[in-house]
Amino acid sequence: MDLRLFINRLEDLNELIKIDGADWDEEIGTITQLSDEMDGPALLFDSIKGYPKGYRIISNMISQARRLAIALGLPGDLPSVELVRCIKQKFQNSNPVEPVFVKSGPLLENVCEGSEIDLLKFPAPKWHQRDGGRYIGTGDLVIQKDIKSDWVNVGTYRVQLHDSKTVGLYISPGHQGRLIRESYWAEGKSCPVAVAFGSHPLVWIPSFLGFPWGVSEYTISGALLGEPLQLIKGKYTGLPIPAHAEIVIEGDCPPPQVESREEGPFGEWTGYYASGARQEAVINVKRLMFRNDPVMVGAPNLTPPGNIAASYAIRAGNIWYELEKLGIPGIKGVWHMKSGGANLLCVISIEQKYAGHAKQVAMAAMSGAEGAYHGRWVIVVDEDIDPSRDEEVLWAMATRCDPATAVEIINGCWSTPLDPTISPEKRSKGDFTNSRAIVLATRPYYWRKDFPKPIRSTREYRDSILKKWPEVFSKAKR
Ligand SMILES: Cc1cc2nc3c(=O)[nH]c(=O)nc-3n(C[C@H](O)[C@H](O)[C@H](O)COP(=O)(O)O)c2cc1C
Repeated sequence: MDLRLFINRLEDLNELIKIDGADWDEEIGTITQLSDEMDGPALLFDSIKGYPKGYRIISNMISQARRLAIALGLPGDLPSVELVRCIKQKFQNSNPVEPVFVKSGPLLENVCEGSEIDLLKFPAPKWHQRDGGRYIGTGDLVIQKDIKSDWVNVGTYRVQLHDSKTVGLYISPGHQGRLIRESYWAEGKSCPVAVAFGSHPLVWIPSFLGFPWGVSEYTISGALLGEPLQLIKGKYTGLPIPAHAEIVIEGDCPPPQVESREEGPFGEWTGYYASGARQEAVINVKRLMFRNDPVMVGAPNLTPPGNIAASYAIRAGNIWYELEKLGIPGIKGVWHMKSGGANLLCVISIEQKYAGHAKQVAMAAMSGAEGAYHGRWVIVVDEDIDPSRDEEVLWAMATRCDPATAVEIINGCWSTPLDPTISPEKRSKGDFTNSRAIVLATRPYYWRKDFPKPIRSTREYRDSILKKWPEVFSKAKR
């Protein structure tokens, strides 16, 4: 559960390089984007311009599927859908593990309160050219407790550095962290918040996945780690905080009518600045804890097909898990086309078992805790199509889908100010809904047996040919 052990492991596997002397002002962000475009390693920045040695940032930590696989303890070379299948199985096979409280942890190596708090000592980058400020929180954990129960939610939400003791917190409408803080505000109270900047990937990953209301991400981290996550109790908020986190703040998030500041713009995961800059809630920081030589996890949004957390694969695994939990049979693979980030182009391959099966799958995928937020296209294909190969999916759309009868539009779905297609009129009304297209690129069920046969040999026969003639294919790209 210690980020530093994971960094050592990446270094041992030649999956990390160290960079000295980069500038926090756009340079670290651009190196991060370019290196990801070139399928590069994780990047550990040190001696950042204007900051002492030891105050570090790791970026692209799990931006490539092979590093995500390493984090999850899976082989790094699994083909795309196999990786997703293994992720789904991990969720299926591991029961939630309750965290434990410990008295101390490396996080407490440095503790500051009151006038000692100075967040400007950390090299928060300005990640993208047109960002409105510096973001200390990108690959973070925002920790809040439900006002009515002991349930603790952990979410990844962006945190802008305003000044030495104040940060901005952007949470999209409908996200659990936002609903929690609104319930405090409804009673005229500030919402207690802790934010961890820098955690082991298995501690971080659950915080950006969708889980049902009431599920604590800490228990999922425990399941993925195979041991209970170690927590300490925050002295200011009483909130449970990972004992091995690198940097943690505790503070209050007052109702916006009491205090708010301009937040953004910040380069968003769709590849645009859709939500612009607006007045947003802040956290007044009351306590700061950090390890010696702290490492922040930097996870700025990259322009698709770049994806800062390979979340196209891990979200697909969670959707597959949700579909099977509902008891829906015949799911052969789930994928998000990388050009649609991790939400906008979801592809599911199925073995059709009954009339209406394909549409049931699409509607369930776009309605669960993982798939409901900010989707757009859900494409269902037959089992002979590899959902992770865009050209196969497009072939199915081109040849098996009759738009008049096999495309359905559903209006008024859960979206976000980050959605570039929300018009200025809808924005001004606060109507952050969009439409979804269900595309059934499957052979129509009731005449599937009469559907023209594909000319391609079966997958099994093709595999046997690849094995029999290795010398023919050794120089081919795939
Ligand atoms: C790197 C990264 C940054 C994110 N930033 C935000 C953000 O600023 N605001 C937001 O509402 N969601 C953000 N998300 C998405 C949420 O973390 C995700 O939808 C999560 O499921 C929300 O958790 P919740 O259901 O507990 O609210 C981000 C995800 C990632 C991977």
